[in-house]
Amino acid sequence: MNIVIFGAPGSGKGTQSEKLISEYGLHHISTGELLRDHIARGTHLGKVADTYISQGLLIPDELMVEVLADLFKENPEVAEKGVIFDGFPRTIAQAEALADLLQRYGTEIHAVVGLEVDEDELVRRMLERGKASGRSDDNLDTIRKRLDVYHKQTAPLRDYYLGKGRYHKIDGNRTVDDIFGDIRTSLEPHKDKK
Ligand code: AP5
Ligand code: MG
Repeated sequence: MNIVIFGAPGSGKGTQSEKLISEYGLHHISTGELLRDHIARGTHLGKVADTYISQGLLIPDELMVEVLADLFKENPEVAEKGVIFDGFPRTIAQAEALADLLQRYGTEIHAVVGLEVDEDELVRRMLERGKASGRSDDNLDTIRKRLDVYHKQTAPLRDYYLGKGRYHKIDGNRTVDDIFGDIRTSLEPHKDKK
């Protein structure tokens, strides 16, 4: 089973991914974590990514798609195990590239779990996390920019996946466990897919 966990910055994608991993044993691909790891190690990709992330902007599609394709090439077993994509795709171009990539491995996206959270709650969560996270994008100015970028570039994916009958809307304003209960129910029909 391949799942996209979808939602605005601070909607709980990382938090719910951890629960999905323990429940279904899927491989977690978080493009945000992958890029932050490159920044911490000072790689060339990290240096490029840092300039975008600290401004709340998206890394260009071509670069992001190349990073993902390389990851699959180096770890082909990932496609067999099933993946939770967290923070990818973020644009229609990325979604189309992902569909092509998965097709090459004989698979597809089975479900998109959309965490829908009120904007003031998103800001509250990220400011709270920012007190300790050390993330260069967890400050009020950059949070506002990230939300703006989300509405303009990423939110259109909701309709894209609704049109494909893959989108499962989840009310993400509640407790972590209540949200996860709904996610589990929405994935029930997909859990044995390959
Ligand atoms: P990324 O790392 O993906 O960040 P994001 O989408 O902005 O989302 P966050 O990680 O901040 O939030 P989350 O939804 O994971 O929520 P979390 O579980 O942490 O991307 C960062 C940057 O990298 C991008 O801005 C871009 O520059 C670049 N990038 C990444 N992918 C890219 C791509 N594909 N293309 C181009 N650029 C890309 O929860 C948030 C907080 O709330 C936590 O403190 C958590 O403990 C708390 N919380 C979670 N759930 C609840 C709950 N139910 N109730 C109360 N608190 C909760
Ligand atoms: Mg995250």
